[in-house]
Amino acid sequence: MDVTVFGVVGAGQMGNGIAHVAAAAGLQVIMNDVKQEFVDNGLKTVGKNLDRAVSKGKMSEQEKTEIVSRIKGSTNLADFKDADFVVEAIIENFELKRKVFQTLDEVVPPGSILASNTSSISITKLASCTKRPDKFIGMHFMNPVPVMKLVEIINGLATAPATTELTVELSKKFGKIPVEANDFPGFISNRVLMPMINEAVYALFEGVGTPEAIDEVMKLGMNHPMGPLTLADFIGLDTCLAIMNVLHEGFGDSKYRPCPLLRKYVEAGFLGRKSGRGFYNYSEK
Ligand code: CAA
Repeated sequence: MDVTVFGVVGAGQMGNGIAHVAAAAGLQVIMNDVKQEFVDNGLKTVGKNLDRAVSKGKMSEQEKTEIVSRIKGSTNLADFKDADFVVEAIIENFELKRKVFQTLDEVVPPGSILASNTSSISITKLASCTKRPDKFIGMHFMNPVPVMKLVEIINGLATAPATTELTVELSKKFGKIPVEANDFPGFISNRVLMPMINEAVYALFEGVGTPEAIDEVMKLGMNHPMGPLTLADFIGLDTCLAIMNVLHEGFGDSKYRPCPLLRKYVEAGFLGRKSGRGFYNYSEK
């Protein structure tokens, strides 16, 4: 099957990035969110991110206009009636995702693929909310989507080999490098990344070092592009906590318990960059 019409549910940080790379690969893209304002903000972000390439002479203004014009905004899931492939990129909440997939399953042609960009929710469980678990897969992009090379492809228990093959090819078409994982809590990426971030929060909680010291050690000592606390603020502390909870509940192992300080920050509404405050303060920047 050739994918020509590509749908994205969610126009936020991840959703607009996915729409960006799909449109840049020449696909007709439908980007959906619950409010027109969210769709407009998503489109604005795609334009701004493409401007970076235009200002560096890596892309012409004409190419940018063509890419943006391939993305159609939508606030109604019924607009996906002709989609060949739809990826969901809404918040990490199983009940909300379940509702989206049940509606998509009714609307999207039966031969089309449904994918989730979830960072940790079980693909097998999400697939079971639909009547097409064989055509259901995890397609996990990394933030910022236009920059990061990886797409983690997660096979649910019932995902058909043809679905995996198509998703691998599509990721390559987007200029990404797909890596396959099986469906266990956190997959590969967050099974390894989140416990490191959580441990950095414990180091802060226990007074081992300041946020700056913890980040500098990992940047200068391990060549990470961002320190773990800066990265946590970038990802969103609510997302980090949600992933730690999935690991903790999924494995039933106390080694994955979320740091109390992480819980406290989320309770305070200190969610990282998006709220203006996390481990660092962004309100003046
Ligand atoms: N959209 C498009 N392009 C962007 C961009 C964006 N949002 N952000 C940065 N860029 C581009 C810049 O234009 C620049 O392009 P050129 O090389 O062509 O000049 C390039 O990316 C590098 O950007 P900067 O020079 O501004 O900044 P930097 O060198 O500090 O890099 C970074 C920024 C790429 C974000 C880097 O800090 C980094 O790699 N950080 C780690 C990111 C990471 O770990 N992401 C994974 C998070 S985990 C996740 O997403 C999954 C999950 O489930 C939680």
